[in-house]
Amino acid sequence: MTGTASFDFTGKNVFVVGGTSGINLGIAEAFSRAGARMGVASRKQDKVDAAVEKLSNDAGKALGYAFDVRSFEDVSAALNDFAEKAGKIDVLISGAAGNFPAPAVAISPNGFKSVIDIDLMGTFHVMRAAHPNMARPGSLINISAPQAVQAMPFQVHVCAAKAGVDMITKCLAIEWGPDNLRVNSVIPGPIDGTEGMDRLAPTEKMREKVIQSVPMKRMGDPEDVALACLYLASDAGRYVNGQILAADGGWVAGGVQLPM
Ligand code: COA
Ligand code: NAP
Repeated sequence: MTGTASFDFTGKNVFVVGGTSGINLGIAEAFSRAGARMGVASRKQDKVDAAVEKLSNDAGKALGYAFDVRSFEDVSAALNDFAEKAGKIDVLISGAAGNFPAPAVAISPNGFKSVIDIDLMGTFHVMRAAHPNMARPGSLINISAPQAVQAMPFQVHVCAAKAGVDMITKCLAIEWGPDNLRVNSVIPGPIDGTEGMDRLAPTEKMREKVIQSVPMKRMGDPEDVALACLYLASDAGRYVNGQILAADGGWVAGGVQLPM
């Protein structure tokens, strides 16, 4: 782990929503290695407990919360509790999401709504509940997706949700900028070995097709995305606000091709 070594978040509080697996856990681990006191949350208590073990460090035992981002009350109660016990939040990462590939004609209104409720409503819930608990200056980062900027087959629900997520980012950036809060999005490219990629490219042949469609000819790993978050949240990103930053090997710029 070389890249993250140059960042120091000692004395900072970092909370990662949806940080118990995959990319977001990689992001949380990077901030933990950089010395931050960590908070982490997702739906399943066993995943939260395992993440708390991994993220505890010299700054203290990580604080874990099991909640569904679809409940504003539960999100709010957890972030209030974290701020009370650990102090105001310096960096908030919002990355909980749901996805399944399906043609639009096979998605029921409830299936569409599920993804909107998790990705879009969930992002608003997290941002809204974080606001009173943020330190000033503070940094909020939404984990978006290539679907936010490019139409894709079998992804109408995710494209609609993540495009909305990036608009939340931009609107909050201009509303909260005067209050010394910066809000940005990070778009991960195809990240190897994750739930999201396993759902979209479940066979070796499909994986290879994805790799060939990335200009850098490789999938990313969670640290590739974590580095973008560390940069945005650090002093190096102090004047960056309202941006949608892709850490994707050029996938979005080159025209994303899903293998379906
Ligand atoms: N194709 C079509 N519809 C699907 C589907 C699929 N593959 N998978 C789920 N749905 C529909 C269900 O049929 C249901 O609609 P219905 O009530 O009209 O039948 C609706 O989605 C909700 O399903 P349910 O299983 O009750 O949702 P949930 O709220 O428990 O879970 C999901 C949400 C579906 C997004 C689930 O996949 C999830 O929890 N994902 C989290 C992990 C993840 O996706 N990681 C990758 C992040 S990019
Ligand atoms: P993942 O491992 O499934 O991560 C999703 C996380 O969110 C888990 O911790 C999950 O834990 C939690 N979660 C899901 N639904 C939730 C809910 N309703 N309430 C609270 N927590 C919830 O998936 P991933 O593939 O690493 O994706 C992580 C993020 O990166 C997502 O925002 C995704 O859109 C984005 N992304 C991924 C890729 C990729 O290649 N994988 C590419 C572009 C963008 P629980 O199950 O315990 O709830």
